[in-house]
Amino acid sequence: MARVFSGVQPTGNIHIGNYLGALRQFVELQNDNDCIYCVVDMHSITVPQNPKELRQHILDVAALYMAIGLDPEKAILFVQSDVPGHAELSWILTCSSYTGELSRMTQFKEKSRNNESAGMGLFSYPILMAADILLYDTEIVPVGNDQKQHIELCRDIAIRVNNRFENTFVVPEGKYMKSAARVMSLDDPTNKMSKSAENIHSRISLLDEPSKIKKSIMKATTDSEGTIRVDWDEKPGISNLITIYSAFSGIDIPDIEKKYEGCGYGDFKKDLVDVTVEALTPIQERYAEIRKSEELKTALKEGAEKANAIAVPILRRVKKKFGLGVKK
Ligand code: TYM
Repeated sequence: MARVFSGVQPTGNIHIGNYLGALRQFVELQNDNDCIYCVVDMHSITVPQNPKELRQHILDVAALYMAIGLDPEKAILFVQSDVPGHAELSWILTCSSYTGELSRMTQFKEKSRNNESAGMGLFSYPILMAADILLYDTEIVPVGNDQKQHIELCRDIAIRVNNRFENTFVVPEGKYMKSAARVMSLDDPTNKMSKSAENIHSRISLLDEPSKIKKSIMKATTDSEGTIRVDWDEKPGISNLITIYSAFSGIDIPDIEKKYEGCGYGDFKKDLVDVTVEALTPIQERYAEIRKSEELKTALKEGAEKANAIAVPILRRVKKKFGLGVKK
């Protein structure tokens, strides 16, 4: 049994990139591990949020966690701001981090675009993420490929502190899917699929209706060659669609290529619509039930209590190492 931790931001609807790259792993891991999954609401306020909408989005993501198959009896599900230790540890780690390493984070560079008035929250976002992970003595962090740099930074900080104060932190490992660890945008397959992209047809959200899914897939960018095969350098659009097909259907990529030999992109895309709708419909049905149930809020409340019970002694150990406070 390994301790597993991961989180998702409650900003907009979760898309198939989040699901195929990260959340799928959460479900697989919950049976044989000690899993903690969080809705990281404090990360989401690194950019301005409408408070009413944020509240709803927190519950949306939590309901989706359960709709994809996470079971609060097997995994701890909770909301980050309900456990104060995240913010507290984040400050301690801030004091063991360097501005140089944070300014090298590609996500910060992309989001701030070298703008001097970029928020401090965006800058120190990876430190809060490191705190999330280290607060639970986490060993495994299932995430998409885009988080690799943040995981490396978390490891660097943990090792740095351990070099100063022995055995303060467990040094975690990232865990990435072999296929679909980075699902690309449907309209521009050179960029990752993202919740914040302006074009809604660049992504498929887990709660999209079949007509929207159809429109987004049929419009997806491909190439003029017309053969259905994976070639990320020359044909990133169709490679991305084949990868999504494979992830949802469980059919290996070479078998998909064989199946569609001689077929056009139109036929393949129509089948991909069916495969996607078939995979998402049961999730959407469960979501609708869970989202309006009282069970959801009870699970989050109990989840926060369980998470806090794990976090408190670990935070006490860390504070003692740093010489903070007088309480034992
Ligand atoms: P977030 O909310 O942006 O994304 C949630 C998860 O989805 C993965 N992901 C993708 N995977 C494949 N293809 C894509 N196009 C794609 N887009 C997103 C992300 O890698 C992530 O695993 N910083 C994190 C949230 C976080 C966290 C943590 C994660 C905060 N604290 C501690 C792990 C541990 C994030 O922005 O996730």
